[in-house]
Amino acid sequence: MAYTAQLNKNVSVRTLKTLKLKGEKFVTVALYDAPMAAMAQRCGVQVVLVGDSLGMTVLGYDSTIPVTMEQMIYHVEAVARGNSKSLIIGDLPFMTYATPEQAMTNAARIMQAGANMVKLEGGSWLAETVNMLSERGIPVCAHLGLTPQSVNKFGGFRVQGREQEQAKKMARDARVLADAGADLLVLECVPSELAAKITKNISIPTVGIGAGQDTDAQVLVINDILGLTETPPRFSKNFLVDAADIPSALQQFVEDVRERRFPEVQHTFD
Ligand code: KIV
Repeated sequence: MAYTAQLNKNVSVRTLKTLKLKGEKFVTVALYDAPMAAMAQRCGVQVVLVGDSLGMTVLGYDSTIPVTMEQMIYHVEAVARGNSKSLIIGDLPFMTYATPEQAMTNAARIMQAGANMVKLEGGSWLAETVNMLSERGIPVCAHLGLTPQSVNKFGGFRVQGREQEQAKKMARDARVLADAGADLLVLECVPSELAAKITKNISIPTVGIGAGQDTDAQVLVINDILGLTETPPRFSKNFLVDAADIPSALQQFVEDVRERRFPEVQHTFD
């Protein structure tokens, strides 16, 4: 197939900020190995997330909680070998950033494995950590809404921010994290209106998953894009159903996000 959106230049935090300012949607895919990472580069995926979702999508756990630093490093290294152009985010696993010092040690390991940014889950309690990482040259992606490492606190994988107090807190957390130096913010399973409001009120780009059409970028997990998930989440879409092959499915996802054809209303929450 013809790759129409191949990345020719390295994607940086500056690139993403510029895209937000220009109102151009960008694309993120969570994936875990070198061939998929290479394909993402050919298909023009600007941001690749080596998510701790790999605990569920690759390793067969029923949550992300068992994922270790060693597993994350192994997969970040593989992805970095396959892709030299997309911006690579590596997740910090459960309890590896409970204190700022612990976060620094573990973030350094993820960066040395080949990531360009680390992601951590949580609200304003992380402000000091985000600031410390940022000041020391480590770009940070924050993550609000359904933060899967807190599944036991939430009592399941459910939409967050529907109640007024929760929504206000999320909007406040987003501002605090952006002010602390975060470069990117993932919003997962959040009502569309709230995600739109947060996106408008902060200067850093937002990346939505089940967060409506108005975030600056969209992310899906490669397993969902390719129909590998037995019970796919409502916000996902199998792009392989109507595609000739795997690269065409990924390219369709990229085009549909850029042209604002994905997500559709049925992939979003009120
Ligand atoms: O771990 C992951 O893949 C993620 C995305 C679903 C946002 O956090």
